[in-house]
Amino acid sequence: MNVLILGAGGREYSIGLALSKDKNVENIYFAPGNGATDELGKNLDISDFSQLADFAEENSIDLTIVGPEGPLVEGVVDVFELRGLLIFGPTAKAAQLEGSKIFMKNFLARHNVPTANYIETNSLQDAYRFIETLEAPIVVKADGLCGGKGVIIATSQEEAKKASGEMLSGSSFGQSGTSIVIEEFLDGYELSVFAICDGEDYVVLPAAQDHKRLLNNDEGPNTGGMGAYAPTPLVNDKIYKKLDERVIIPTLEGMKSEGMPFKGVLFIGVMVVDDEPIILEYNVRFGDPECEELMPLLKSSVFDLFYKASTNDLKNLKIEFHDKYAVGVVMASKDYPYKSSAMAEILIDDIYHEELNENAHISYAGVTRGEDGKLYASGGRVLVCVGIGESIAIAQERAYMLVGQIHFAGKQCRTDIAYQAL
Ligand SMILES: Nc1ncnc2c1ncn2[C@@H]1O[C@H](COP(=O)(O)OP(=O)(O)O)[C@@H](O)[C@H]1O
Ligand SMILES: [Mg+2]
Repeated sequence: MNVLILGAGGREYSIGLALSKDKNVENIYFAPGNGATDELGKNLDISDFSQLADFAEENSIDLTIVGPEGPLVEGVVDVFELRGLLIFGPTAKAAQLEGSKIFMKNFLARHNVPTANYIETNSLQDAYRFIETLEAPIVVKADGLCGGKGVIIATSQEEAKKASGEMLSGSSFGQSGTSIVIEEFLDGYELSVFAICDGEDYVVLPAAQDHKRLLNNDEGPNTGGMGAYAPTPLVNDKIYKKLDERVIIPTLEGMKSEGMPFKGVLFIGVMVVDDEPIILEYNVRFGDPECEELMPLLKSSVFDLFYKASTNDLKNLKIEFHDKYAVGVVMASKDYPYKSSAMAEILIDDIYHEELNENAHISYAGVTRGEDGKLYASGGRVLVCVGIGESIAIAQERAYMLVGQIHFAGKQCRTDIAYQAL
C-alpha cells in the first residue's frame, strides 16, 4: 500500500515511522514533511488540495492521512472524497468541532455532554454581564483557531473583561476572536483521550498526559507541548466507561444525526473533577507530542487502524497494544516559545547501549536538511526523544538517556516529564 501523510511535525514523523515498519506499507510520501521525513519516504512540495489529490491519483496512493487541523478545517477531506480518494480525517463540517469553540460548546450542550458552564457571544455587554456572575479564575476563549494561544485564564473579573474586550475588538486574535466563549474554571487534572472513529464505531487509545508549560513543575508560559506520556495511571476503568457512555457515544451519534458523521481522530481534552470527566474541548487530529508516544504502543498494524477507520470498518478491527509505557521529551530551540532561533547543527552520539537502541528513538519535528546533508534544528520544537519501557520510570529513564546523546546549540527541555505519574 502507498500512503501520503500531510503535515510537517513530529506527529507526522511518528506516524510515518510506525508505517515504515508496517508490512502492509510500501511507499510513504510526506507533504511537505520535514528535514528528517525524507529518511522514511519522499517529501513533496505541494500544498494545494487539488494538486495533492492529483498526486494521490497519479501515484496510486491507497490512503492519505492528515496530521494537522489546518487542512482539515479548510476542507482537504472534502476535496479528496469528491474525487473518490480514500483519506483519514473529518470533513470541513465535522472539523468545526475544533475549528469553532462556539460550535463545539453548543454541540456539547445539545447532546448533554458534560462541559463547563458557558456563554458564547459577540457582545461585550453580554460578556460583562456573564463575567459578573462568575468567581475568578474565569476562562475566556476565542472562537476560532489560534494555534493553541486563544485561551486566557483570567485571575479576576477585571482581567476577564479586558481579555473579552481585546478579543471582541479583533485586536488580540483578529477574526478568530470576534466571537468568544466565556466559561467557568474547572479545577482538576487534565487528560488527552484519543478515539479513532469511522463515522459510527470507534476505538479508544491509551489515555495520555501532555505537559503544556515550558518549565519544570508546570511553570512558565504555555507551549505547543514539552512532553507527554501514555498510558497514564490517572485514568481508571470507571473514567473510561464514563467517557464512552457520556462523551464519545453521544458525540458520534450526534454528529451522525446532524448529517456530519465523524471520521478521524477525536481528541478529547478532559478535565477530571472529583472523578467526573468534563470536556474542555475537542480537537479533530492527534495531539503533538501525544502521537509520538501512542504510535509505538500499538502492537497491531497502524496502517490497518487508519485504513479501517477510513473505510467505515472499525467493527472488524482487532486492536492490540503493547503492555508498556512510552515517555516523550521534547527538545526545543533556544528562544522557544518566544521567537525563532538561529539554525543549529544537530549532533547525535553513537549509541552503543543496546537497550537504549532497542527501546528509545527520536521523532523529528522542526528540522531542516542542509545542502551538506546534515540535519539542523530550525523550528521551535526540534525533536522528541521517546523512551519505551515496562514502567513509566524505565520509559522516562530511557527517554532522558537519549536526550543526553543529542546536542545542538541552545537546546532546552524539561527534566520532569511524566512526574505526575511517578
Ligand atoms: N474551563 C477551564 N477550566 C480550567 N482550565 C481550562 C479551561 N478551559 C481551558 N483550560 C486550560 O486551557 C488550556 C487550553 O484550552 P483549550 O480549550 O484546550 O483550548 P486550545 O487548546 O484551543 O488553546 C487547556 O489545556 C486547559 O489547561
Ligand atoms: Mg487544547
